Formats: sequence, structure tokens, C-alpha cells
Amino acid sequence: MGLEPFTQDDQIFRDEDVLRDNYRPDDLIERDKELSEYQAALKPVIKGARPRNIFVYGQTGVGKSLATAMIMNRLLLDQENYPDIDIEVVELTCKSLTSSYQVTAHLVNQFRSQDEQITPTGYTPGMINDMLWRHLNELEATHCLIVLDEVDSIGKDDDILYELPRCNDNGNVEDTKIGVVGISNDFTFRDNLSGRVKDSLCDEEIHFPPYDADQLSNILMQRAEKAFTDGVLEDDVIPLSAAHAAQDSGSARQALKLLFKAGDLAREREAPSVTEQHVREAEKLIEEGKVKDELESLPTQSHLTLLAILMLSKGDALPAKTRVVYEKYVELAELADADVKTDRTIRDRLSQLTLKGFLGVEEQNDGIHGGSYHQYTLEVRTDIVEDALQSQTRISEVFH
Ligand SMILES: Nc1ncnc2c1ncn2[C@@H]1O[C@H](COP(=O)(O)OP(=O)(O)OP(=O)(O)O)[C@@H](O)[C@H]1O
Ligand SMILES: [Mg+2]
Repeated sequence: MGLEPFTQDDQIFRDEDVLRDNYRPDDLIERDKELSEYQAALKPVIKGARPRNIFVYGQTGVGKSLATAMIMNRLLLDQENYPDIDIEVVELTCKSLTSSYQVTAHLVNQFRSQDEQITPTGYTPGMINDMLWRHLNELEATHCLIVLDEVDSIGKDDDILYELPRCNDNGNVEDTKIGVVGISNDFTFRDNLSGRVKDSLCDEEIHFPPYDADQLSNILMQRAEKAFTDGVLEDDVIPLSAAHAAQDSGSARQALKLLFKAGDLAREREAPSVTEQHVREAEKLIEEGKVKDELESLPTQSHLTLLAILMLSKGDALPAKTRVVYEKYVELAELADADVKTDRTIRDRLSQLTLKGFLGVEEQNDGIHGGSYHQYTLEVRTDIVEDALQSQTRISEVFH
């Protein structure tokens, strides 16, 4: 059979992009309380006062970034009613920016044209801060709100989170009133902020709690109307997707992903409607994908240890004693041209893989000799492990 023609036929989706993460719905539903707190915190700005610094936190997928984008848009729109106010909003996603220096350099670049961008190395912290103050001083705006999304990336090197909210007080920036909005889904980061950063960054804290199943159902319904063709979702599909995501994380992102995947399966199978069964299968596939991602992100020596277990499993030699796993490991590590570690190290790796749930362990007593030993089993499907290991260049060579 040759190629099938590409066609626009799709019984299931009217517009699947509506379920994607970067789609902006018209309304943010189920967040009235948080939105009103957020708006109240920004209200002084439109009245010309100094902005309060705001820290927005809550687990992943609960609408922090979406709410922020919507509120900022609204603020920019409403300021047009007030000729004495001129607000600028600068948004920076700090993902993968791991120091104050990097965050500041990226902020500086936001104020510069394409051919004036600085490279984010080669300046002292003082120089880079001065560049930022200069740009902020040059602004014509009465106010500048600086949104730092995923700000936890910065880790302990958080000087800028002290300096920036204070820049008016310290005289670094004079005419334009500066406000900072920090957003984070990392509770440890929030709890561990140093006292001085907490004092300056968190005038207001706004917490976005996880969604419950009813809230997620409503969010999904809002999207499903546009995303799916009429009547194609069976009644249980949305409640089931919502319940699953509510139980696991309370994340709208997860719920949307599940609903999309269920629809995608129905389409792939040319089914006339999306059913509960599709949701259950989608759930399983997403779960497997997650396991595979986790397996892939392990370090090389853990991969080699896992490979030894996989090979033993294929040879029907599981459960296997630590010594047997180690011998297999040595053989494979040599084949892969990797460092061969001591059996002690590999025993540690085995424990870690067990803790993560990839391996099972049984303790056996050795009868009259009185000793005991561990026997390992594989707790993940072999095809998933094999897929994950095949994707590692060094290890895939050993498979052939
Ligand atoms: N109340 C809501 N109504 C409609 N869609 C929502 C709502 N809350 C979240 N979403 C959708 O869920 C997804 C995740 O939301 P968002 O990106 O705002 O989460 P977040 O809290 O910023 O998560 P993270 O901490 O991972 O960045 C987006 O696709 C967003 O459109
Ligand atoms: Mg976000």
C-alpha cells in the first residue's frame, strides 16, 4: 500500500489547537477569587501609586501564567481611559535562567533592539545591573511591571529579586515606578526565600490552589465546545478526564492533555465518538510516556544497570541476585566502552532504581548458611525500558 492522501476529514476534532497548552481561552473560569485578589493588588497602579510587588504561587497547571497574561492585558487596555497613566509590562520566562546575572541580562535585552542585544556573559554583576537601571530610567512610562514567570529557576542566586523590587527605594530608578510580579510552582523555593527577598518581593502573595474535579469539568467543557465536533464526546468522557486529573494533580494542563489524547486515539481508530475507553487508554499511554521520560533522564550508570536487568529478563533469568546483575553489568559496561564501577556502586544504583519503582526487590534467606540476599525483578514493561534505553546513543550500540 502506498501513501494515503492528506485530507481535511476529521470526524472528531473541529479545532484541536483549542486543547493545546499555548491556546488562550477568552475567559478564565473557576478563578474568580484569585483574579479579584490579583486585581486588587494591582489596583494602586491604575490610580498612579507605587505598584505592590506580588508573588504568585501554586502547583503546575493551575492557571498562574494564563491569569497573569489576562490581567496584564486588561490593565494595558484599561489604562487608556486615564491619560495621566502610562504602564509598560515586561514579561520574562525565567525557565533555564539559573542566576540573577542571567535574568538581568535577559531583562536588559528585552529593552534592546535585535542588533543591540548583549551576550549574557562578560560583564560584572554591577555592570549588568547598571544597564538595567539605565533602561528603566530611560522609560517614558509612569509605571513598569516586570513579570518574572517560573522565577524559581534562579535558585539561591536571587540577588536581583531583592534589588529589582527595591530599585525605586534605593534610588537606582527614579521617575518610573517599578513593580515586580514573581510566579512560581516550586513551594520549596517560596519557603526558602531569604528574609530580605521575601520582604521586598512579597508585598502580596496570591495562592492558586489545585482545581477539583468539578472545576476541571467546567474548564474542559469550555474548551471541548470549540475543540470537538458536536455530540462526539460521550457523556462520561469529560467527568472521567476531570476526575483523573483532579485526583492526580489538580492541573488543568493535565486534564486538557488527557482529553486531547483520548480524542486523538478515537480519531486514529476512526471511531465515531470519543468514549470512556479512549480516556482510560489515553491515561495509560500518558503514564507510560512519563515513565519513559523518567527512565531516559537517569544517569549512564543507572542506564547500564537497568540494561543488565533487561538482558537478564530477556534470558528469563529474573529474579536475579545482586552478584548476577553485577556480572551482567560489567559485561555490558565493557561493551559500551563505559567506566566499569565497583559492585558497591551498582548496589546503590539498584536501590535507587527500586526506590523509584522501576525494580522490585525480594529478600531471600539462605537456609542453613543463615545469610540473606536480595533478588531483583523488573517492575516496568520491558518494551518501555527497551525504548528508553534505545534512545541513549551509547547504550543503543550494545543492543546490536
Ligand atoms: N481556569 C482556567 N480556565 C481555562 N483554562 C485554564 C484555566 N486554568 C488553566 N488553564 C489552562 O491550563 C493550562 C495550564 O495553565 P497555566 O499555563 O496558566 O498554568 P501555570 O499555573 O502557569 O502552570 P506552571 O506552573 O506549570 O507554569 C493552560 O493551557 C491554560 O490555558
Ligand atoms: Mg506557568
